[in-house]
Amino acid sequence: MRAGPPRVALVTGAASGIGLAIATQLAKDGLITVMLDRSPAISDIAAGIGERAHAIVCDVADAAQIHAAVDEVDSRHGRCDVLVNNAGIHPKRDGGKFLIEQIPMAQWQEVMAINLTSSFVFCQRVMPLMRRNHWGRIINISSRGGRTASPVASAHYAATKAGLIGFTRIAALEGAADGITANCVAPGPIESAMTAGSSPEVRAAFARSVPLGRYGDPEEIASAVSFLAGNGSSFITGAIFDINGGTYMP
Ligand SMILES: NC(=O)c1ccc[n+]([C@@H]2O[C@H](COP(=O)([O-])OP(=O)(O)OC[C@H]3O[C@@H](n4cnc5c(N)ncnc54)[C@H](O)[C@@H]3O)[C@@H](O)[C@H]2O)c1
Repeated sequence: MRAGPPRVALVTGAASGIGLAIATQLAKDGLITVMLDRSPAISDIAAGIGERAHAIVCDVADAAQIHAAVDEVDSRHGRCDVLVNNAGIHPKRDGGKFLIEQIPMAQWQEVMAINLTSSFVFCQRVMPLMRRNHWGRIINISSRGGRTASPVASAHYAATKAGLIGFTRIAALEGAADGITANCVAPGPIESAMTAGSSPEVRAAFARSVPLGRYGDPEEIASAVSFLAGNGSSFITGAIFDINGGTYMP
């Protein structure tokens, strides 16, 4: 067991799906887990996890709200050791994807702000806190749709998830000297509100394309994040963990 105060994790988009599973797992692992979401339900959800979980209502599309959230974590806990950039959206059109010609500019910008720019703003604010302790773990939730052409991914979603991979590699280089690692997890189809928005036809076709024959569970992403957040991942940085039931094998 590590001596000293418990580590502090910050998980965005923690009110449902993959983010909720990650926060639940990290709290079980003994970390103080700060759960961020734009949904006010996050307060009750964090209370349900127990005393190690704290909630902050924060819209990650708004840089000022990110700054306020990180300031709150710093003043309350004096540290932030693990940052999981998980919040993300994938707008659907009639249960399917938006074609490039159909994407309104405002929607393009919203997807960029939530899925990509927020990770930049969080890293900009949290990396100095990690540098103070010469230890940090940045885990960015990308997607199979950012790894390869996916028939169900829209262009804005794929662009942000591919962008996150490039961003993570630079964070890995820039954090390395201070013991900060940065890695991506790239899930394939996972049962959540996001995939529930797909039509039954899209879901059935996608499930058939998975060698393991099913959608994954959010907990199957959380277990990998738990590993990346701990000491056991100390020599892993700039890596991409493809967790997709075998749908993409680079
Ligand atoms: N479910 C999948 O199959 C799958 C596959 C690959 C990648 N992912 C990625 O995993 C992450 C989590 O997805 P999920 O499937 O759990 O989706 P979800 O819709 O169940 O959860 C997303 C959470 O993010 C929150 N959120 C959205 N916009 C926000 C904002 N502006 N500010 C704060 N919180 C916001 C939502 O309120 C929600 O709680 C996303 O980045 C997604 O792209 C999911």
